[in-house]
Amino acid sequence: MESLTQIDLDDIQGLVVRGYKDLSAACYVLLKIMDGAKAKKWCESVIPQITRASTRPEDTALNIAWTRQGLAAIRFDSHITGQFSDEFRSGMITGHKRRILGDVGESVPENWVWAGPADEPVHVLVLMYARGMDKLTEFYSSFARGFAQNGLKEIRRLTSDSPLGGKEHFGFKDGIAQPYVAQFDRSGTRKQDYPVALGEILLGYQNAYGRYTQRPLLDGAQDPQGLLPHDMEGSQKRDLGKNGTYLVFRQLEQDVRGFWSFMKQQSQNADAAHAVYLASKMVGRWPSGAPLVKAHAADDPHMKQQDDFMYHHQDAQGLKCPLGAHIRRTNPRDSLEPEPGGKKSIEFSNRHRILRRGRSYGQPFTPSVDPHDFMRNLEQKDAGERGLHFICLNANIGRQFEFVQHTWSNNPNFNGLYEDPDPITGNRNGRSATGNAFTIQQEPVRKRICNLPQFIRVRGGAYFFLPGICALKYIATAPQE
Ligand code: HEM
Repeated sequence: MESLTQIDLDDIQGLVVRGYKDLSAACYVLLKIMDGAKAKKWCESVIPQITRASTRPEDTALNIAWTRQGLAAIRFDSHITGQFSDEFRSGMITGHKRRILGDVGESVPENWVWAGPADEPVHVLVLMYARGMDKLTEFYSSFARGFAQNGLKEIRRLTSDSPLGGKEHFGFKDGIAQPYVAQFDRSGTRKQDYPVALGEILLGYQNAYGRYTQRPLLDGAQDPQGLLPHDMEGSQKRDLGKNGTYLVFRQLEQDVRGFWSFMKQQSQNADAAHAVYLASKMVGRWPSGAPLVKAHAADDPHMKQQDDFMYHHQDAQGLKCPLGAHIRRTNPRDSLEPEPGGKKSIEFSNRHRILRRGRSYGQPFTPSVDPHDFMRNLEQKDAGERGLHFICLNANIGRQFEFVQHTWSNNPNFNGLYEDPDPITGNRNGRSATGNAFTIQQEPVRKRICNLPQFIRVRGGAYFFLPGICALKYIATAPQE
């Protein structure tokens, strides 16, 4: 048996290995640094409170991440910051990134409510989780008390406490499929044939290519206190990236009324079951979570957690799960070239995996979170904005998150299709009427649905570095440039 690289769970922030599902309430605090020296002292002082991967938190959890601007605000050595990846350094709102991510039209960063070009810069992200909203309020209040006197200004607090019972706002079970990293499988019971390399999620370890992803490496003299771990690649340098990862944050507003009105209208306003069928074809799973590849004809709640399936041998033509469905294109598993159905294809897909840690925000469209109820209540007065605080972790933002969004979701030519971006998250802004179709492969002829509206709008977002604990200590105590 191949021996696994050992990891120091005590040096890894908890969010990397667990989604804190038992801690149902979360808030994401966006901070601006007003006084760099004070903010560093604050950061150092809160390190003991940070939740590590080694312990399962009982009632609350705390994690901390930085933007590139945040590191600049504490005058962290710019030569060191310069060794972070280009994506992290250039951020999410450059002209190039807008095109790649599809942040145009209604989603243009000028319309964002935070981190847009005219907004105050986001420097630090504090991720707080608690067992219930009361506990979170208490936790947040005592933690936030110190912000002002420590040179920090709260720009925004994004709260996620939606009572959706594990579903996202369109009414589908979420949080099922995740990349399998053997070192994070504490019980050893989830073992899969095609694990994802540790270095795809954490910096400082071998990635899917057997290489080490770009990260800041320091000379011994730059770390006189010896805070940082040694580079495992053997350079004799100290590794600031080790046990850290990049955290992608996108606030995605969901138009639930628009989504289900469209499905209903496409079903001649009569057949609710057909509307649910249509939406499930777009997602690739039924509302219960059952995958279409396995439960082809109807929803089957017994299969709600099922994730051990492939596409090529079961459904090469997309007759069960359409080729352009959201889950089939965000993780095509074994369906793409060079060798559909084979090991090479799975390995190709596994180079573009992301660990999702997002949570919904806002009140559900109806308390039941049931599409049938949604469709019965489309005329009701609405209770405000709702959506997903999409968060994902990856070691290479360009090859993982951006690739999934750009090359798979936004691409109308994905997998032999020609006018079909991702029906859920693909960019359809500014395309011609036919450039926003969804195709259902079926016999004797496929069905095409045209003029799909945009159901998602981006409201804010940024790239963060979620450091290992040693790296966080280094950042908090490093001399100012
Ligand atoms: C509001 C926006 C979104 C909604 C409503 C949504 C909904 C869903 C649902 C219902 C699932 C199936 C359940 C599961 O496997 O967890 C899923 C899976 C997934 N989504 Fe999304 N999603 C959204 C945004 C995104 C974005 C922005 C990305 C990446 C750029 C993404 C990537 C994925 C991936 C990788 C999977 C797992 C696919 C698999 O391995 O089978 N999603 N999403």
